[in-house]
Amino acid sequence: MRKPLIAGNWKMYKTISEAIILANGIKREMVDFTSSDIVLCPPFTALNSVYEIIMDTPIKLGAQDIAWEKEGAFTGEVSSVMLKDCGCEFVIIGHSERRKYFGETDEIVNKKIRAALSGSLIPIVCIGESLKERESNLTIEVVKKQLKGGLRELTDEQISKIIIAYEPVWAIGTGKTATPLQAEEVHCFIRKWIEEVFSSKIAENLRILYGGSVKPSNIKELMVQDDIDGALVGGASLKVESFAEIVKNAV
Ligand code: 13P
Repeated sequence: MRKPLIAGNWKMYKTISEAIILANGIKREMVDFTSSDIVLCPPFTALNSVYEIIMDTPIKLGAQDIAWEKEGAFTGEVSSVMLKDCGCEFVIIGHSERRKYFGETDEIVNKKIRAALSGSLIPIVCIGESLKERESNLTIEVVKKQLKGGLRELTDEQISKIIIAYEPVWAIGTGKTATPLQAEEVHCFIRKWIEEVFSSKIAENLRILYGGSVKPSNIKELMVQDDIDGALVGGASLKVESFAEIVKNAV
């Protein structure tokens, strides 16, 4: 059985004091909730403050990005060792915003996944097509290319530790969610691809999250799909009420 996972990607929102208020609110609502894994991904500057709030609860901490090197002269970068030091267990890799605005390629994603795994962090690897690609019927092709490049030459042991998030770019921050069937079609493809390239056991255990305008009102219909195991939530994770409701409605 795959345990549902709901992750909140706070993106570039929340100062330290705002993050503390949000994390305390989520903790109050969710402290006894163990039916799903809950992961909060604040910006780097608030990681440690949020960790101090959730460290004695089942709620876990994740970062939004990682450097592919462990240390060195890489101005502006944050390594796996530093993320662990802040209390992180998870890290989002290859988000479409990083691909679009910061030029992240599948090759970079692959290097970052390796860095995360060797630093004992669980990568949440994001993939997904643009609107133009969907309208040109290229969704499966694009997703396959991202899987091939991003997961290139990973071992079975490495693959069994990762989480994949399917986030159609056209659904991010637009209020336009993929229909449950549109999402399920891609999730099902991802699991089949993992089965073919790795093994059926790995595919069976792989958690695949959906992301893109997830709200309290649409999480249920997404979660009833066979291959949707949770959600990566942006906007709706910035308020205690909506995030808590998503987590509760997901099971
Ligand atoms: P929204 O939930 O705001 O659409 O963002 C989704 C996302 O990008 C999560 O990583």
